[in-house]
Amino acid sequence: MRNPRHILITGGAGFIGSAFLRHVLKQEGFDGKAVVLDKLTYAGNLETLEEDLKDPRVRFVQGDINDQKLVSAIILEHKIDTIAHFAAESHVDRSIVSPEAFMQTNVMGTFHLLEAVRKHPNIHFHHVSTDEVYGSLGDTGAFTEETPYNPSSPYSASKAASDHLVRAYHRTYGLSAVISNCSNNYGPYQFPEKLIPLMILNCLRKKPLPIYGKGNQVRDWLYVDDHATCLWELMKHGKPGETYNVGGEQELSNLELVEKIIEIVAKLTEEDPKELRKLLAFVKDRPGHDHRYAIDCSKVKREIGWHPSPSLDERLKETVKWVLDHKPWIDHIESGSYREWIASNYDSR
Ligand SMILES: NC(=O)c1ccc[n+]([C@@H]2O[C@H](COP(=O)([O-])OP(=O)(O)OC[C@H]3O[C@@H](n4cnc5c(N)ncnc54)[C@H](O)[C@@H]3O)[C@@H](O)[C@H]2O)c1
Repeated sequence: MRNPRHILITGGAGFIGSAFLRHVLKQEGFDGKAVVLDKLTYAGNLETLEEDLKDPRVRFVQGDINDQKLVSAIILEHKIDTIAHFAAESHVDRSIVSPEAFMQTNVMGTFHLLEAVRKHPNIHFHHVSTDEVYGSLGDTGAFTEETPYNPSSPYSASKAASDHLVRAYHRTYGLSAVISNCSNNYGPYQFPEKLIPLMILNCLRKKPLPIYGKGNQVRDWLYVDDHATCLWELMKHGKPGETYNVGGEQELSNLELVEKIIEIVAKLTEEDPKELRKLLAFVKDRPGHDHRYAIDCSKVKREIGWHPSPSLDERLKETVKWVLDHKPWIDHIESGSYREWIASNYDSR
């Protein structure tokens, strides 16, 4: 068993990285340092970390994972023993319009990070990846760790490339590395361009609910805090060189998911669900849109003893409530003022 103490969290100002940071800080007896390295692209938001930044165990560094000198300096200064690598361009639609940033960060960024880590052989490296590297499934079956890679979008192709690099650095240089490939995450602090927060907000504002094609694409949904728990366990117990699939075991078509969101929003805001359903707007399908993803996560359950939360409905309700209770966080993103919060509220250490 490893005992992660001084952890470098790349992309820690994003959705999943910030949930992971909160999880680490809650661990009883965690007396190490959690250093967040984040470029603060449009998806990075220091306001998300407002409370965590007050914690003396947390350091924040604004910077790029491509900057090997910076990464090396952080490793030395903070005696980093574990890297949790979340930093990425993560939005599939953006990767179709402008793929270059995905190659720069997801492929070259991971390469530069690995090069920096290679000079520090005692570091354990956890690479956070996606089930999208496996491509699309038919109506049955599930991705296992042995499913061949077959990515469909520039996003998933760039993540697949980064997975291959991590695996190669393990085999070639003996880097202690674990990869996890997980399904779609949802929960607090997700950037409002992603499906679930977008649908919640549009329901609340009575704006159209855009659904690609007929909405029959099937996805597996994983609550972000469950993912954070799993990653922490994998960092302690995951076997170097191994890949672990992580899923919520909650499969739904996009249309079924949006209908659930409509029901929950209607109940919490005392709206008529029939009126909200009228907002459904079926739009032209995304090019290369995968039909179905499903995750067989029996390996991580068996070997690590982690299990996802059983109730999607309950977690979705919490997510809708979170959106209702965090209007300023959303308003600041939509007005763009979250970018100014950085300069005015935080003196980078
Ligand atoms: N969100 C999901 O449903 C999901 C599912 C499976 C896997 N993943 C993977 O999990 C990881 C985190 O996803 P997320 O949803 O939190 O993403 P996100 O877009 O919310 O956050 C990404 C973070 O990385 C930072 N970043 C981007 N480029 C950087 C660079 N060059 N150097 C340093 N920081 C940089 C951004 O500023 C942002 O804070 C990604 O690797 C993603 O591929 C996400």
